[in-house]
Amino acid sequence: MKLSIVYYILAFGIVFTAGCKKRYSDDPRELSVFERIAHERTDDDVMEDFIDSLLLRMTLTEKVGQMMQINESFFSAEEASTDATGTQSQSIDTAKLEEIIRTYQIGSILQGGTRSADEWARVSRIFQEVNMKNSINGIPVIFGIDHIHGTNYLAEGTVFPHQLNIGATFNPVFAYEMGKYTALEAAPLGHHWNFAPVLGIAEKKNWPRLYETFGEDTHLSTIMGADYVTGLQETHVGDYKMAACAKHFVGYSVPNSGWDRTEADINTQKLYEFLTPPFEASIKSGALTVMASSGAINGIPVHASFHYLTTVLRDQLGFEGVLITDYQDIYKLNALHFVTENEKESTYKAIMAGVDMVMAPWSTQFSDDLISLVKEGRIPEERIDLSVKRILRLKCQLGIFKNPYPSENYHETINTEEARKAARDAAAESIVLMKNENRLLPLGNPNRLTVIGTNADSKMGLCGGWTYSWQGDDENLYPDSMLTVYDALELEFENTRITLSDRAHLRYYAGISDAVIIVTGEKPYAEGLGNIDNMSLPSDEIALIETAISTKKPVILVLLEGRPRIIGDLFDRCHAVIFAGLPGIYGGEAIAGILSGRINPSAKMSITYPYQSGHMISYNHGQTVFNGLNAQNPELLKYTIGEFGSGMSYTQFEYSDLTLSDSVISVNDQLELSVKVKNTGRREGKEAVLWYIADEVGSYSRPVKQLKHFEKQFLLPGEIKEYSFTINPEDHLSYPDERGKMMMEDGYFKIIVGNLESRFKLQAD
Ligand code: BGC
Repeated sequence: MKLSIVYYILAFGIVFTAGCKKRYSDDPRELSVFERIAHERTDDDVMEDFIDSLLLRMTLTEKVGQMMQINESFFSAEEASTDATGTQSQSIDTAKLEEIIRTYQIGSILQGGTRSADEWARVSRIFQEVNMKNSINGIPVIFGIDHIHGTNYLAEGTVFPHQLNIGATFNPVFAYEMGKYTALEAAPLGHHWNFAPVLGIAEKKNWPRLYETFGEDTHLSTIMGADYVTGLQETHVGDYKMAACAKHFVGYSVPNSGWDRTEADINTQKLYEFLTPPFEASIKSGALTVMASSGAINGIPVHASFHYLTTVLRDQLGFEGVLITDYQDIYKLNALHFVTENEKESTYKAIMAGVDMVMAPWSTQFSDDLISLVKEGRIPEERIDLSVKRILRLKCQLGIFKNPYPSENYHETINTEEARKAARDAAAESIVLMKNENRLLPLGNPNRLTVIGTNADSKMGLCGGWTYSWQGDDENLYPDSMLTVYDALELEFENTRITLSDRAHLRYYAGISDAVIIVTGEKPYAEGLGNIDNMSLPSDEIALIETAISTKKPVILVLLEGRPRIIGDLFDRCHAVIFAGLPGIYGGEAIAGILSGRINPSAKMSITYPYQSGHMISYNHGQTVFNGLNAQNPELLKYTIGEFGSGMSYTQFEYSDLTLSDSVISVNDQLELSVKVKNTGRREGKEAVLWYIADEVGSYSRPVKQLKHFEKQFLLPGEIKEYSFTINPEDHLSYPDERGKMMMEDGYFKIIVGNLESRFKLQAD
């Protein structure tokens, strides 16, 4: 039995802001705009004085213009689609551009869709030239884009696996490298601002943006997100830099329905324990911008919430950069959430809540509304100054004033051998071997293989949404050089006859093959267009798998999908199953390499894959889920075909010698843990060791276990390596109470690593 709550930490005093430059406020009082302006001034006096003098010269229209982000396609000479990044303008209506810039002095342009590097550089230059000619005070525009898995909007760029796969590598190097190569390839093109990483937690398995997250675990997402931000922001190509955007703050990924952009009910404990830490870490790593969530929490749309956008994000988590709305979200306050009567009231609410820039990509109404709100005295001009200073600071920090135009040398850092290697290695380490009955895999040298399934010969199936177009579903936009799984199998298995079968001939070809490879899953989608009514794999794909199984040949199932589609007992009946997620442009090669054995899989699940449709739980579920009557209900017990953290290798790893430096520690002590891992198999391989902690008894019912640390190492056959973990009670053993205050309780904690367990006691001083 726990004694009592023994150790309170002022939630945001110690734990949440430790390491930040400086804290906003020690007391819960609301700060004035002037206090915020003073607080946010950096130590760079030259830059700050420049911003101050610029601001003094700016009219209200210019200031409000800085707070606007307009879609590039708004200036398209042709009919452009009004979706986020649908069609790209072929030619620009420069007269319109000139007119809008002259009138509204806009500060930012949203871009999307695919172009070659030459085209991107040309378009960025045209926009910036028109802007510089018409900007009263010579303020450059900042371009924003969604290169969310490598440079997915650059025709010759390097497309990495989606974040869900990067999570499955359990190797943060790839998060860093994805950020690094994105900056190397995109920054010199004038792409200043990247709307990544996504820091939501993949809790809702039907959520169509699940693949954009690093998976279901907060710690994994915290580490990966922060490393991505560092990789992106610390990579400079000469003077060219890129800003990250931690999105979507906050609670976006856990809508009650699982459908995109719908309401979430989130209690304070959950908010601070599971949802804010990834944002906090990315902010500490210097994330220059944040995007607000389109959803509503407990009935309040986030875009209208001072509590979330200012109190939590700035005063508690220490964010000082630019907060942008999501696409059109300011007007969703009146058109979708119905919390305001019209656009002007939406503007009022969002600005007073803390928004700095609006992505209101198809209208200039924001300018008129905000100017009249200031003139009517409802919004003080200092509030506008606060946002404009943040935006100007961002432009200074990125060097855009010095260097508004794209580089001349952008080709030098695009699609380099190093970038391709990083994306290839990431793909190879991101694919999970879930099942391998009788060591069917690797396949060795078969005579004949049959391959079939919706994604067998599909490039887009490997990449998913946000690839070369918003929905990612235009196969013609994918590079000629990219290999589908089928193409890659042909290259990989030189001496094997590979047949790409159609449905009608499956029985025949299966009959003459050594094995059938079914590459199935989902077709690409993005955002709300990916909302679904059924979690099952589509019925025609299920029928295909059934047919393959009925031939009695070994069946290998490869799942290419952005979320876990239910396959039920087909998992039991197929001989080998691979969860490939969305591994990117080198995914075909990686899958073929795993099937042949050239690549030894080392990924582990970054989500918990349900067995049946009723099994919608995460690995860190509550205590009650499998206790009581549930423990006697066989329908529940086999709930997953791949729990978070599970994944096989072609070699075997044996864990031993779990040691703890002590069995009792106090709140100020550290506990040193180590474990030995031996590669007992015949091949070299990588093993990610996942350290979980379980709080045995708490004042609140605690999760059954929680990942607190992970590390991946390479081991030769026979090699033994030591993995270690230092427990810091404040970081690893505390949790928030229902008001969000961090607390530590004495009592026993379990350590779980591999198949080993131990326990220790935390003692109050
Ligand atoms: C998405 C954002 C994205 C924005 C700009 C929105 O629809 O929710 O994640 O950054 O579009 O493309």
